[in-house]
Amino acid sequence: MAPIWKSRFKDSDATPESMYLNRRQLMRGAAGLGLGSIAGPALAAPEGLEPNPYEDITNYNNYYEFGTGKTDPAKYAGALTTSPWSIQIDGMVDKPAEYQIEDIVGKAQIEERLYRFRCVEAWSMVIPWNGFTLASLLERVGVQSGAKYVAFETAMRPDEMPGLRYPVLDWPYREGLRLDEAMHPLTLMATGIYGKDLLGQNGAPIRLVVPWKYGFKSIKSIVRITLQEDEPFTSWNDANTREYGFYSNVNPEVDHPRWSQATERVIGAGLFGSRRETDMFNGYAEEVADLYAGMDLKKQY
Ligand code: MTE
Repeated sequence: MAPIWKSRFKDSDATPESMYLNRRQLMRGAAGLGLGSIAGPALAAPEGLEPNPYEDITNYNNYYEFGTGKTDPAKYAGALTTSPWSIQIDGMVDKPAEYQIEDIVGKAQIEERLYRFRCVEAWSMVIPWNGFTLASLLERVGVQSGAKYVAFETAMRPDEMPGLRYPVLDWPYREGLRLDEAMHPLTLMATGIYGKDLLGQNGAPIRLVVPWKYGFKSIKSIVRITLQEDEPFTSWNDANTREYGFYSNVNPEVDHPRWSQATERVIGAGLFGSRRETDMFNGYAEEVADLYAGMDLKKQY
C-alpha cells in the first residue's frame, strides 16, 4: 500500500501546471487579487507572484548531499529511499518519540502556499508548496517552557548520497530556528510542489520552508527535530561563520562578504534570467519584522 503522504495527492488530483496557472488567473480575475495561498488562510504574500514552471523548480537545485552542481540533485536524489520514513522529535517536548511520517502528515492540515524562495547565491524562484505549519506539529508534540530554539537534521545515507563523500559541510546537514520563528504561521513543513509529492531533489519526503530567510535555512529530508534551550549548531554557520549567520534573514542591505545581496536573478526568465531588486525579509517584512525588533541586523545576520 502506498504510504499516506504518497496517496494524499493521487495522480488525478495533482494539478497540471497549466491548470494551476489558469486557476490562479481566474482567481485573480474573480477576486481582484491573486496574492497569498489558495487553499490556506489568506496570508499576505509579495505582490505579483507567478510560480516558476515545475521544470525549473525540480532541475535547478541545491542539495549538497547529492553533489554541489545545480543539476546533481535531479540526477542522483531519486536514489533516496523515502519509505519508510520517520522523524525523531525530542528534547524539550511533552511527547518525544520517533514519529512515522504517515502519522505526522496524516493528521496535518495540508495547504497550498505560493512563496518567493530566495537563495543566498542571489537567485530566486516562486514555488507553490503544499505543506502544513511547523507550529501545528510543535503544538501537537507539546513544547516545554524553557525551550528557545528548534534544531533540524537531514538524513545521512552514505550509500544513497554520493555528496557525503566530500567534506563540504560537517554532515549531517543541520539547521535551526529561534522558537518564535519556528512558530510563525509562514513557516512551513513542505511535502509537495504543484500538488505533487516532493521529489528527492526538493527534499522528499518532508522539508522546511522559511520564506523570509535565505534558502539554506530551508533544510531538506528531515529526520530529526529537537527543542532546546541553546542556539543550535548550523552547518553553514559552522563552515563559514563570517559568511553565514544564524539568522540569515533576506536583507538587501547586508551583502555577503563575496557578493551583493541587493538584487537577485530570477531563475527561468530567459537564459540568464531577469534581475529584480531584493526585498527586505524577501517581501515578508509586514509579517515578520516584529520578530527582530531592537536587533542590529547588520551584526546578527
Ligand atoms: N538541505 C540539505 N539537507 N542540503 C542542502 O544542500 N541546500 C539548501 C536548502 N536545503 C540544502 C538543503 C539551499 S542552499 C537551498 S537554496 C535550498 O535548499 C534549495 O531548495 P530547492 O532545491 O528545493 O530549491
